[in-house]
Amino acid sequence: ADQKVEMAPLETGKGHYINYKRIEDNLKIVRQRLNNAPMTLAEKIVYGHLDDAHNAEISRGQSYLKLRPDRVACQDATAQMALLQFMSAGLPTTAVPTTVHCDHLIQAQVGGVPDLKRAIDINKEVYDFLATSCAKYGIGFWKPGSGIIHQIILENYAVPGLMMIGTDSHTPNAGGLGMVACGVGGADAVDVMAGLPWELKCPKVIGVHLDGKMGGWTTPKDVILNVAGTLTVKGGTGAIIEYYGPGVESLSCTGMATICNMGAEIGATTSVFPYNHRMGAYLDATNRSHVAKYANEFKHNLQADKGAEYDQVINVNLSELEPHINGPFTPDLATPISKFAQAVKDNDWPAELKVGLIGSCTNSSYEDMSRSAAIAAEAQAHGLSTKAKFTITPGSEQVRATIARDGFVKTFEDVGGVVLANACGPCIGQWDRQDIKKGDKNSIITSYNRNFTGRNDANPATHAFVASPDLVTAMSFAGSLTFNPLTDSLKGADGKEFKFSDPAGFELPAKGYDAGENTYQAPPEDRSSVQVAVDPKSDRLQLLKPFQAWNGKDIVDAPVLIKVVGKCTTDHISAGGPWLRFRGHLENISQNMLIGGLSDEGHVNKVINQTTGEYGAVPEVGAAYREAGQPWVIVGDHNYGEGSSREHAALEPRFLGGAAVIVKSFARIHETNLKKQGMLPLWFKNEADYDKIKGTDKISILGLKEFAPGKDLSLEVTHKDGSKDTIPVTHTFNEGQIGWFRAGSALNLMAKAAN
Ligand code: F3S
Repeated sequence: ADQKVEMAPLETGKGHYINYKRIEDNLKIVRQRLNNAPMTLAEKIVYGHLDDAHNAEISRGQSYLKLRPDRVACQDATAQMALLQFMSAGLPTTAVPTTVHCDHLIQAQVGGVPDLKRAIDINKEVYDFLATSCAKYGIGFWKPGSGIIHQIILENYAVPGLMMIGTDSHTPNAGGLGMVACGVGGADAVDVMAGLPWELKCPKVIGVHLDGKMGGWTTPKDVILNVAGTLTVKGGTGAIIEYYGPGVESLSCTGMATICNMGAEIGATTSVFPYNHRMGAYLDATNRSHVAKYANEFKHNLQADKGAEYDQVINVNLSELEPHINGPFTPDLATPISKFAQAVKDNDWPAELKVGLIGSCTNSSYEDMSRSAAIAAEAQAHGLSTKAKFTITPGSEQVRATIARDGFVKTFEDVGGVVLANACGPCIGQWDRQDIKKGDKNSIITSYNRNFTGRNDANPATHAFVASPDLVTAMSFAGSLTFNPLTDSLKGADGKEFKFSDPAGFELPAKGYDAGENTYQAPPEDRSSVQVAVDPKSDRLQLLKPFQAWNGKDIVDAPVLIKVVGKCTTDHISAGGPWLRFRGHLENISQNMLIGGLSDEGHVNKVINQTTGEYGAVPEVGAAYREAGQPWVIVGDHNYGEGSSREHAALEPRFLGGAAVIVKSFARIHETNLKKQGMLPLWFKNEADYDKIKGTDKISILGLKEFAPGKDLSLEVTHKDGSKDTIPVTHTFNEGQIGWFRAGSALNLMAKAAN
């Protein structure tokens, strides 16, 4: 396995080689340690990326692994804070190859070209910042219009057997090329970009055994729609979903990517397929025959061992699998097409179909587009246009240019379709929908992945269903959710009934892909003169200043800023929605800190300023303490900081001068994020002590000079009436993490080491 094979043609000459040797070496060690027990594919790839294969504790579903991913990918919404943080580490280049993709900020209004133009205008400062910071730090930059992150990764960067993290939940899409690709929060991406290992709970492995052969109206999408119905939205939590069995052969590479992409909907860490000739064909078609050749030689490590054990096995027979439609409001409510019309009636779902939307990162391959175009062409031959509105979102500029060249775009437009920009668009709610009013009950159907309430159009009354592009296209002609193209006929313009033929398409373009416009910006050779563009007057972006190092003393009489009662998710700590506009501006977004938390006095976003005795908003009072040089603390309940891994939830309290968060229990990721920012996440040793503290108390944190792993700290609580309590607290800091606290943050420590 010791060859110098480049990971990606776009990075030729940069020294980014496929490191199969490390996998081979690591697996030798791990096999010995596991007494040569047969391994799943997921284990091979994950353990093949261990930072320390000799000493890592390996226990599926139990231990935590330190891993060395090969790549990082960020989308433009999450990249802003990630890059700002990376910059403050003071490193000249990212430690692993990294790319940034502009896809989330483009709103669909009228169509691809004008929508893109408007987005470039509105988001100019963000794009300028991303373009210049990428250029400065050696990061590949994909401009707005280039396409959706996961499609571009599949086309250019995914490599069988390698590991990638991405700051987007559907990063697992690259599993279609046999890569272990996981969605993470910005803090994890920053770590890996800065050369730290990435920590992951040793995943369980769920096996999906595919038998039979796919055909007719059934598509790869139906595999995951069916599996989602079986496992539900939580069923994949902590697990990698690994597909195997003879049925795999009847899936195209891009079809496998669709399945892996939507595995995010069942909470899976990621999904992965074994390497096969269908992946080889895709690599060939995307100028990566050298990668296919190398993967072929390494094939023994790109599939499971015989007899490998799964934590759970699900069987799917592709020959018997029916097309499914999932939804509304949740992706795991799976209904086979034969039962769907009845379900629409039984549940009183609006039967009229208002809009059909195909494409997105989930389903915009050449194969998907060619099949949908064939359906559209057949309807057109009968004189029909779509009854519902019909939109097409190409996943990349390459897909768009290729389907334009091959006439599919014309077919779609001829039947009334609108081709949107190569971007997330309606999938992430970037959709200026005009055909209904907010609150109107209505149905739409998409070939996307997520359909939670309000996701696409911010209308909670919209019933969003998810299906294959084939079904979406056919149903758009019927304009009705009760139409089943497998059994029902439509009336042509001539008044005659016709039935759709089974859809047929092309796995890959016969004439090869057309790259379209060049939308990639490679980092320049000489990066020393590049200036990162951040306008000091910007309200969306702000450079980060390093947090102050620990002053070497105990924390004395820190007022409790808020004692939070009950559930406190990262959404309570750092609200989303309109605040996301400020995700690159820590000072502005900090104005949302804990505005959703319920205080012990029963208030929301109203706490007492213990210095003045007056009430104010939580962020306001926090900032007032900070201006007075007075650190403060938060007291919280159980599972504090659960929810998304949003790093702002940890950055904001630190920015506003917080010193510690003391709770009954933490959600693990948030606890780690707090440590990274130099805060002290502390646990009550006795949960009942939570009741002894009030929002009007002051707390001293004692013992910091002897702060050590496994050693408790002590709180001295002074109540309003002057009485005191001493309360023991524990923590989960290890030696390295205590270093973060002392330096003021993990990045401070890294910056120190770099200079
Ligand atoms: Fe974008 Fe939707 Fe995919 S938001 S990355 S197209 S899931």
